[in-house]
Amino acid sequence: MGNCLRSFFYDPSPSSIANNNPSTPGTSNSTYSSTTTIDVSATSSSIVCKSQFSEAASHDERNEVISNANGQILESSNLEKFTFADLKRATKNFKSDTLLGEGGFGKVYKGWIDQKTYAPSKSGSGMVVAIKKLNSGSMQGLAEWQSEVNFLGRLSHPNLVKLLGFCWEDKELLLVYEFMPKGSLENHLFRRNPNIESFSWDLRLKIAIGAARGLAFLHTSEKKVIYRDFKASNILLDEKYNAKISDFGLAKLGPSGGESHVTTRVMGTYGYAAPEYIATGHLYVKSDVYGFGVVLLEMLSGQRALDWKRPPGQRNLVEWLKPLLSHKKKLKTTIMDSRIEGQYSSKAMVQAAQLTLKCLKADPKNRPSMKEVVEVLEQIEAMKEKPKATKSTLVSSLSKPHRRGQQPTQHRPLFIPGRRAPKYEREVNIRKITKKKVK
Ligand SMILES: Nc1ncnc2c1ncn2[C@@H]1O[C@H](COP(=O)(O)OP(=O)(O)OP(=O)(O)O)[C@@H](O)[C@H]1O
Ligand SMILES: [Mg+2]
Repeated sequence: MGNCLRSFFYDPSPSSIANNNPSTPGTSNSTYSSTTTIDVSATSSSIVCKSQFSEAASHDERNEVISNANGQILESSNLEKFTFADLKRATKNFKSDTLLGEGGFGKVYKGWIDQKTYAPSKSGSGMVVAIKKLNSGSMQGLAEWQSEVNFLGRLSHPNLVKLLGFCWEDKELLLVYEFMPKGSLENHLFRRNPNIESFSWDLRLKIAIGAARGLAFLHTSEKKVIYRDFKASNILLDEKYNAKISDFGLAKLGPSGGESHVTTRVMGTYGYAAPEYIATGHLYVKSDVYGFGVVLLEMLSGQRALDWKRPPGQRNLVEWLKPLLSHKKKLKTTIMDSRIEGQYSSKAMVQAAQLTLKCLKADPKNRPSMKEVVEVLEQIEAMKEKPKATKSTLVSSLSKPHRRGQQPTQHRPLFIPGRRAPKYEREVNIRKITKKKVK
């Protein structure tokens, strides 16, 4: 208990990963130990063969504590090392009724642990946690698990989800997070569950500001962190609907030595990834701003970034709606989510649309910084002028039909019908698209 991960950060060699496996020291035939170096620069001619793990670990100034806008980069993480048996008990053997959701790399379960000792406790007593259990055998899953431990284990900010600990035993890789009772923004914006109410304008703005602060913290910390996977499903909500960014599996340290970008293998989620990144593999801090713009557009419209059930020409939200963002009339009639009609002033709507447009600029240099984004969103929030007959409730009624008669559907970013694609499959698809574009 209370195990410190310092050794993870101090030994950057990929081979050390296997040797640091707390439960299988030096296991050479472990599923994960054979190929621990992950190529992160396949799209670049200048190959930099570093894993996300070693990249995060190989920093010279590991000992400093960097503070910034309520956040900190900790000197070292102090993550709890859980045993698999403990996490099994905490989730009633990963019982289906504790399942919170499933992502590209595995399932997330609700579990209960003792607040002080972190020992498993009876369901319903102690502290609630979210436990992500990775599908075994995925190399990409291992790389993301390591990146999550390296980044999130050391980053501390009110708008980042707290990682409490990890488990690595044999083929089992798990992560233990603070529990976010209101789930993800994606669940609320798009899933048509009559028990889940749609968010009001005020609440959407509050969530946008929280998420923007989280990104701004990452970007302005001395070691610039590029998040790389900004999307509605990675914005989680606490009891009071405060937004916290989760999933640092794809995070990268930003450019150093005067460089403006880092070159990496193109990874992320189609529909959210910035065009320059898809086309060239050049990743900028401002590539995150593009992803933020996509989420803003999702919040304004109540439509998914990608939806294969929409008619051709409307499937990619940005391609469809970006050209309309500067037309006030079309903004009202075509873009804005009818479920929040009457909850915002015309001025606030136009400003939000303009901000979205700036975030979605093709040239990353023309996009605002996340600090500027936070400022504009706060100005919009401060606008007191509301349209007449506005009910300033936090949560709006679901009774209004969605404009255009479309029911938002489950996010299916890949061209694989009928099932949610694992993240690495989505990455492969981005790369296929990239090749076409580059030609
Ligand atoms: N800390 C948490 N507290 C509560 N629910 C969580 C927590 N972390 C994840 N979840 C829920 O688990 C589900 C799966 O999350 P996960 O991050 O694995 O996948 P995802 O974000 O949907 O997709 P991707 O794999 O592309 O990131 C989400 O729908 C989310 O609502
Ligand atoms: Mg996620």
